[in-house]
Amino acid sequence: MTLPSVACHDARHYQRPGTLHLTTLPPLSLYVHVPWCLKKCPYCDFNSHELGRDAEPGAVAGQLPQQRYLDALRADLEAALPLVWGRSIHSVFIGGGTPSLLTPEGVDRLLGDIRARLPLLPGCEITLEANPGTFERARFRAFRQAGVTRLSVGVQSFDDAHLQALGRVHDRAQAVAALEEAAQSFETFNLDLMYALPGQTLQGLERDLDMALSFDPKHLSIYHLTIEPNTRFAKFAPELPQDDVAYAMLDRIVERTALAGLERYEVSAFAQPGHRCRHNLNYWEFGDYLGVGAGAHSKLSFAHRVLRQVRYREPRRYMEQVASGQAVAQSDEVARVDLPFEFMLNALRLREGFALARFSERTGLAVTAIQDALEQAEARGLIERNLTHVRPTARGFDFLSDLQELFLPSP
Ligand SMILES: C[S@@+](CC[C@H](N)C(=O)[O-])C[C@H]1O[C@@H](n2cnc3c(N)ncnc32)[C@H](O)[C@@H]1O
Ligand code: SF4
Repeated sequence: MTLPSVACHDARHYQRPGTLHLTTLPPLSLYVHVPWCLKKCPYCDFNSHELGRDAEPGAVAGQLPQQRYLDALRADLEAALPLVWGRSIHSVFIGGGTPSLLTPEGVDRLLGDIRARLPLLPGCEITLEANPGTFERARFRAFRQAGVTRLSVGVQSFDDAHLQALGRVHDRAQAVAALEEAAQSFETFNLDLMYALPGQTLQGLERDLDMALSFDPKHLSIYHLTIEPNTRFAKFAPELPQDDVAYAMLDRIVERTALAGLERYEVSAFAQPGHRCRHNLNYWEFGDYLGVGAGAHSKLSFAHRVLRQVRYREPRRYMEQVASGQAVAQSDEVARVDLPFEFMLNALRLREGFALARFSERTGLAVTAIQDALEQAEARGLIERNLTHVRPTARGFDFLSDLQELFLPSP
């Protein structure tokens, strides 16, 4: 059900009775989207816009309209507060796009605006996504001083030829310098890599892993490069490694990360003990998140419903909409029948799976709603379970979408 926008921020509207029964609300995270990049990468389908493409009148080339955008974020957050009254924030993630295009003063102001409006729990994880193409030592260090606790560095590869084919604005040397700074200035950091890149061989992947692991990263995210619709790669497809090579690459990734003491706790995420990404874990555990900024998504629970919202995607339109008090482009309650699949899309990505009690707590549904699907999944060797827990088997991890689809509503 899509709601009229007038109801978007009306908390009373969402507190009325309904058929779901959530006995407690999940942890709440805050996501802040920064929708600009120096250049659009040909594989990327995130809501990111090349700076200068749709330049603001009077804007300086290569510079984002920082003040206007920070003002918009503050107003957006303020308007959304009634939906999360009384709740504390477990984690903050400033993602993009390229948030490291913000100045440290800008990040300082943003975090100040957030702290003045929402209580951050003690030790709150605050991640900022950083592109090595925006690296300057003092600047990255100043992000730490502004309150960022965790830097997520988008390296993708250490091979200059691959970086070029991926249309990245950085080279190997910048990636190395950014990681050295991340390791020195932040108590924890993440390194993003992609594999199965155009022209990549198994030996090439080994070299990327050698380099990545040499930084002793606390957290590593490694994604299979996917060709997303409506990207340049979808239009002009590069030649990619064969499937069997890509599988062999994943096997090596799993082996080598394990040897390096990194635990694969989610399909694409590997962490040293104590360094799992709390923000992403909250997504995977079907927690709540308020998303502010252009195109940001929110998922918010109430006693009798789960709400999803999406804000206007295009940065200039978003800022105009915020000014008129209407940042939310779409607002839907998740239908009761869709909740099991939505929960599984997240929870089954986790190596440790989920507690059955957590399923009921987060969806407001009884476990009987998924009994048949669980039996089928177990019969096919895709999950293992006991009276209280369910976790994907190694086979379930390999055929994750088949496993998740078992929880789709029956036609
Ligand atoms: C939201 S992006 C933003 C990070 C930052 N803008 C950057 O690119 O450095 C987070 C990560 O998703 C991964 N990613 C983006 N597009 C992808 C694709 N088509 N296939 C696989 N991974 C992708 C990349 O590893 C990227 O670092
Ligand atoms: S830098 Fe990141 S968000 Fe920006 S276009 Fe490239 S992959 Fe997308």
